[in-house]
Amino acid sequence: MSKLWGGRFTKETNQLVEKFTASIEFDQKLALEDIEGSLAHVEMLGSCGIIPAKDVEQIKKGLTSIREKVLNHEVSFSVEDEDIHMNIERMLIEEIGPVGGKLHTGRSRNDQVATDMHLYLRNQTKEIIELIRFVQEAIISQAKQHVETILPGYTHLQRAQPISFAHHLLAYFWMLERDKERLQDSLKRINWSPLGAGALAGTTFPIDRQFSAKQLGFETVYPNSLDAVSDRDFILEFLSIASILMMHISRLSEELVLWSSQEFQFVELDDSFCTGSSIMPQKKNPDVPELLRGKTGRVYGNLIGLLTTLKGLPLAYNKDLQEDKEGMFDTVETLAGSLQLLAPMIETMTVKRENMYKAVSQDYSNATDLADYLAGKGIPFREAHEIIGRIVLYAIQHDKYLLDLSLGEYRNFSGAFEEDIFEVLQPKNVVAARNSYGGTGFSQVETQLNLAIEKLENKFP
Ligand code: ARG
Repeated sequence: MSKLWGGRFTKETNQLVEKFTASIEFDQKLALEDIEGSLAHVEMLGSCGIIPAKDVEQIKKGLTSIREKVLNHEVSFSVEDEDIHMNIERMLIEEIGPVGGKLHTGRSRNDQVATDMHLYLRNQTKEIIELIRFVQEAIISQAKQHVETILPGYTHLQRAQPISFAHHLLAYFWMLERDKERLQDSLKRINWSPLGAGALAGTTFPIDRQFSAKQLGFETVYPNSLDAVSDRDFILEFLSIASILMMHISRLSEELVLWSSQEFQFVELDDSFCTGSSIMPQKKNPDVPELLRGKTGRVYGNLIGLLTTLKGLPLAYNKDLQEDKEGMFDTVETLAGSLQLLAPMIETMTVKRENMYKAVSQDYSNATDLADYLAGKGIPFREAHEIIGRIVLYAIQHDKYLLDLSLGEYRNFSGAFEEDIFEVLQPKNVVAARNSYGGTGFSQVETQLNLAIEKLENKFP
């Protein structure tokens, strides 16, 4: 089979070179985007009078028929044709004859591949925004049931202050909301059209780049042809956003792993989301959150890989740029798979309220409230902190919790204590009292929950 670019060559390509330089094995994922881009290009060629209308019709018919075959998995791609662009061009020429060769008028594979990538990433970005939304819905459905479920809040992984479980879950809602917002914002830059930039310098044909951009739903065109064919910022941006998103997924996964351990027993993941051990019959392993945590590594890797590929590339197109694809596909697939699992896993997990409550009633996480109590009576907070520190030490030494001490014992440390401290110290009251905006107080959490629901109903972040 002779190469589409064979004219200048006297020898066949070395077979290893052919295999090494080909991208068809992975860029066939872009088949539909490639056809979409070609349809817009040929429409533009016709509207600008660059090729006759009857040729445009024939080419469009040919491309449409190839698209059908791609959708029905009836095409086979060949390494000899190197990449998706030349594979499809070859199919077109086979389908409609030499007139198919007019499609490549006024364009290059360089603006073509960039266009394909913009189209692909636009679709996937929208898809991922939708998938994030499902996870947020799952978070909200659990949060609704657990506004008054109390568990220890931690700093340094040490019991700090009791909080509402809904409050804890909603922290992830907002992380995801920002991820969605970043993805949405990135669409502005994904929506620049490189088509018509040619190989690097534009073209001698009187093309209309705005026309093809509009056909493809792009908002604007790259004003510089060199930038258009060599820019991969939009992919880097996606990979960066994906890395932050994956980090969020990983942090939540880490908590699920901890919470479902024997040591915590705060949640139980549904059986359908866990696996067993081949040797230890009692095991129920949280493989899914572990893998979600683990897959974060490859998502970061794909970002660092592309950053490294791009660093030091002279303008404009270089073959190195072909390396932009596999990492991007891998990240898209990893993210989609992860988000698809995360939503039902959250939705189906059992929250062990009693265990959470038991944990807060057996610790000193209400100590701040005692200090606030004294501060409320006019004692400077710093002094109050010191007094309560001594009370906590006394309690630990006597093997008691703060609620177990008598008023008499409290009064030995400060005359400001009165009977009402025992109410103040109840975990429920401790949580309810943190009623500052954005705090864990139940009424604040209700407000927050409503805000989250409102955000979710609003289609665009
Ligand atoms: N397969 C190539 C890529 O993915 C398409 C562009 C090839 N351009 C070229 N001048 N060799 O980057």
